[in-house]
Amino acid sequence: MTRATDRPRAYFNPATTTFSGASDARLLDFHRRLPGYAPTPLVRAPYLAAALGVREAWVKDEANRLGLPAYKVLGASWATYRELGTLFGPWRPWNTLDELAGQLRAHLPLTLVTATDGNHGRAVARVARWLGLGAQVLVPQDMVPARLQAIADEGARVDVVRGTYDEAVARAAQLADERHLVISDTAWAGYTRVPGWVVEGYGTIFREIDRQLVALGARGPDVVAVQMGVGSLATAAVQHYRAPGRETRVVGAEPVRAACVLHSLEAGELTEVPGPHPSIMAGLNCGNTSPLAWPYLRGGLSASVALPDARAEEATRLLARDGVTSGESGAAGAAGLLELLAGEFGPRAREVLGITPESTVLVISTEGATDPGAYARILRGEG
Ligand SMILES: Cc1ncc(COP(=O)(O)O)c(C=O)c1O
Repeated sequence: MTRATDRPRAYFNPATTTFSGASDARLLDFHRRLPGYAPTPLVRAPYLAAALGVREAWVKDEANRLGLPAYKVLGASWATYRELGTLFGPWRPWNTLDELAGQLRAHLPLTLVTATDGNHGRAVARVARWLGLGAQVLVPQDMVPARLQAIADEGARVDVVRGTYDEAVARAAQLADERHLVISDTAWAGYTRVPGWVVEGYGTIFREIDRQLVALGARGPDVVAVQMGVGSLATAAVQHYRAPGRETRVVGAEPVRAACVLHSLEAGELTEVPGPHPSIMAGLNCGNTSPLAWPYLRGGLSASVALPDARAEEATRLLARDGVTSGESGAAGAAGLLELLAGEFGPRAREVLGITPESTVLVISTEGATDPGAYARILRGEG
């Protein structure tokens, strides 16, 4: 049964601006030197296209990114590398992570600290392991055991905070000292450098997509939909697709009960959505938008949509038919487009986004089945 608070909502901005940010040429070169680097698949999704009433839908499938089941390691690795370089660099030339770790030895012991809804913390723990550093990951009390265990299995110390993700972020921030380096994917007053690099690191996804589409002889998307927690990934999408000369429109999607971006857009200023945030889209259960992301989201999103869990489940099943294993947060971008185009917002959404039956859309499946039990239940239709 849909509760009143589960009603989808949408916000439209027909007058977006462009953002010119020079991207760092060293980024792809860095990611290529990480163990197991390969561009993630760009998958044609005819079932999703049919459900949306468009000609073509593409899915960037992040279910296996550098050996982890989500895209997050792109940001965590680049931000850690750049922050360590700022503190201890410049680096001597290196080719393997062992060579880089060797240059860090004089500065040990050093622990990477972060808060997480799951994927970012696991990524930070993996980066710490690669570099021979410690990892301390703070998680909200409602994290499901499978995700918590996956972080611990990376060798991290996991601290369960009695409270929400936002409370875990606040606690992590307090741990910073000369032996504890905070690698957060969200910003706060006086802490923007690292999350800025996290956003930059996500840019590899969009550069890969550009190359893959060219290689396939396919044209760029008319609309790209990105799911939002604190809004860092969506910021990377805005920086890429709202650069001068680009026409692609960007849509942001988040759970109805953790819709901090949508509430902020409606209020015209950053607005907190206090917890608890009970959505099954665990990676998106954030009550605060990153202040670093805010100007990009306010100016760059053509539409923002808040969706109920049932839509994410529907999108998960649809993506499975297209051959993509997508967890609840992973499917939220596709779910956002479904909510906008197949639901009550359809006419307005098509107008603002310029969507016709000839359009091409792109979604990012940001994670695989990070909670395998829940994924199996959703595929069986048991939610
Ligand atoms: C799978 C997944 N998708 C999307 C997001 C949202 O990213 P952001 O918090 O940068 O908005 C997250 C964040 O944790 C995530 O885990």
